[in-house]
Amino acid sequence: MRVYFDYNATTPLAPEVTEAVVRATRETFGNASSVHHFGQQAKAAMDDARTAVATLVNGDPSEVVFTSGGTEADNFAIRGAADALEPTGRRHLIASAIEHEAVLNTYRSLARRGWRTTLLPVDHTGILSPDRLREAITADTALVSVMHANNEIGTIQPVAELAAIAHAHGALMHTDAVQSAGKIPVDVRALGVDLLALSAHKFNGPKGAGVLWIKRGTRMQPIVTGGKHERNRRAGTENVPAIAGLGVAAKLAAGKLAAEGARVGALRDRLEAGILSNVPGTAVNGNADRRVPNTTNVSFDRVEAESLLIALDLEGIAVSTGSACSSGTLEPSHVLKAMGLAAHRTQNSLRFSLGMFSTAEEVDRVVDVLPRLVDKLRGLTRKAG
Ligand SMILES: Cc1ncc(COP(=O)(O)O)c(C=O)c1O
Repeated sequence: MRVYFDYNATTPLAPEVTEAVVRATRETFGNASSVHHFGQQAKAAMDDARTAVATLVNGDPSEVVFTSGGTEADNFAIRGAADALEPTGRRHLIASAIEHEAVLNTYRSLARRGWRTTLLPVDHTGILSPDRLREAITADTALVSVMHANNEIGTIQPVAELAAIAHAHGALMHTDAVQSAGKIPVDVRALGVDLLALSAHKFNGPKGAGVLWIKRGTRMQPIVTGGKHERNRRAGTENVPAIAGLGVAAKLAAGKLAAEGARVGALRDRLEAGILSNVPGTAVNGNADRRVPNTTNVSFDRVEAESLLIALDLEGIAVSTGSACSSGTLEPSHVLKAMGLAAHRTQNSLRFSLGMFSTAEEVDRVVDVLPRLVDKLRGLTRKAG
């Protein structure tokens, strides 16, 4: 039995998505910019997907810009807004300290070009208090970027409140909704944002397809220049099969958001309760009440996360560490560090993320296997010490 509990990294395709991608690859090969039948067929497939995504986030189809994924959507949001707002003299960007690298490294890149950047701290549960934004924002701030749900711990940020503060100071508000879209309701009007990024492969769609939703009237510069695609906002011949797959994934997710959220949430809670009661020295990281239903992040005392991840993989169970392993050393997770967790806890936590094909049997298998693996690793640590 193989168990895949790494849905926040990527998800398997829904069967209906596979079918749509294959069909579009085979039959809808025209260039969506062509005026002839084949081009118009491709354009119609894109229009369908645009409407499905707009419905998922309660936006207008004309506000949906297709990108190559979440990373490009975040880059476009930040660089596109920065380029558009530079002439106004605003030179300050704000984000939370727990953003995805797609945001953090784009901020670093702009800092090298002279932009002032501020990363706001989160509390010990991984939530950004709107007060932190009130303290940091100035008349110079061009953009505030705070993720809707965090990829490592799943916490949901008070985006609507943050957007109101940003707007009161004349700044734009971007949210990276890559880990929330398709899992919980995402409503661009209720959130009050100007820009919102999402990615198909996080909700059973294909990789390499994403969206930047841009509120009508928002001044943006394109970051990919060329032809007049996507109403001059993102150049390049569109990946129609992937976009068609994104549309079907969006439709599927929208149709069963509440039911699937409840089902996956119950599985996640069963997993979490099982781990906490069967493995001593464990604790859940992040706010338990304000998080997406599919994610739990658990610290295992006196266990190196990477070793446990490998031991689980040998048992056929796929999970993830928040920490990136670079050049042989385990980098502590920047998210857990920002929450102020003790150093050892930033390196001994695992993320379990569930989704469409997860079952109670899989949960029980993980709960069954973990105590033995953790005991063994702790025994090894004791001997080595
Ligand atoms: C919060 C968040 N933002 C952005 C991305 C990047 O999305 P993509 O893989 O589509 O480039 C990810 C993917 O891990 C993510 O979790």
